[in-house]
Amino acid sequence: MLYVGGKWVEEGEAAVHPEDRGYNFGDGIYEVVRIYKGKMYQWDAHLTRLYRSAREIKMELPWSAEELSTLAHQLMEKNNITENDDATLYLQVSRGVSPRVHDIPAESKPVIMGFARHKARPLADMKKGQSAQLIEDIRWLRCDIKTLNLLGAVLVKQYAKDKGAQDSILHRDGIVTECSSANLFAVKNGALYTHPADHLILNGITRKVVIDLAKENGITVNEEAFTTDFLKQADEVFLTSTTAEIMPLVSVDGQPVGEGTVGPVSLKLQELFEQHIN
Ligand code: PDD
Repeated sequence: MLYVGGKWVEEGEAAVHPEDRGYNFGDGIYEVVRIYKGKMYQWDAHLTRLYRSAREIKMELPWSAEELSTLAHQLMEKNNITENDDATLYLQVSRGVSPRVHDIPAESKPVIMGFARHKARPLADMKKGQSAQLIEDIRWLRCDIKTLNLLGAVLVKQYAKDKGAQDSILHRDGIVTECSSANLFAVKNGALYTHPADHLILNGITRKVVIDLAKENGITVNEEAFTTDFLKQADEVFLTSTTAEIMPLVSVDGQPVGEGTVGPVSLKLQELFEQHIN
């Protein structure tokens, strides 16, 4: 079951209005939430980010945090997600329906849509690592907003796929930002390096959890920009996201990272994350 603009509908029955601004302009925002064993993980942080994204695009959400929490729980229930299940919950809000003009209509009523799906954790890949390809970051300059407008991400991800890699690592003029749908960390001499949470990256919720876990466990974290050359000399590289968790990248541009296997710092953080979500 999906929730679309105030109605519960079966998949396949949902319809998008031809002049929904989310559909016409990518004018809207979204969140992807992890469900571990039937419980939403970091729900409050996702809600906070959804409200922030709305503010940043000058959209007022007409729903309270409580109403959105109720909706999220209903989505789980109606999709038979129970205490044994790992799943994801998707929520998006478009600015709504109005005649197609670019500026923001004075009267616009946001349209919310949500669904929840069973989804296993990527445990096998987390164990063996994935490969990535470097590519210029072609996205806009407000990557801090979790907008529906994801064409930049689509194209850089496809570039990686075409090269036989699983993900892309983005850089702006040689400064590494993040991945197409995840944050990026490099490990050098036991310390973590990741781009600061400014307008060039999405301030990932998993990123924050990993930074906190690292600091609590005596691992130095440097939230500072670094170059593609630094990345290529890194001992370990991994990406973080709601769905990928802590995913080691063992090869970049066809070259092994460090030993070309999952390194000790990545392993340690995966262990800490496992304890943290259980
Ligand atoms: N992507 N950076 C980008 C560009 C992202 O799209 C995401 C999330 C992240 C990681 O954020 P978080 O840890 O809060 O999931 C970083 C989601 C999962 C997606 O679009 O599917």
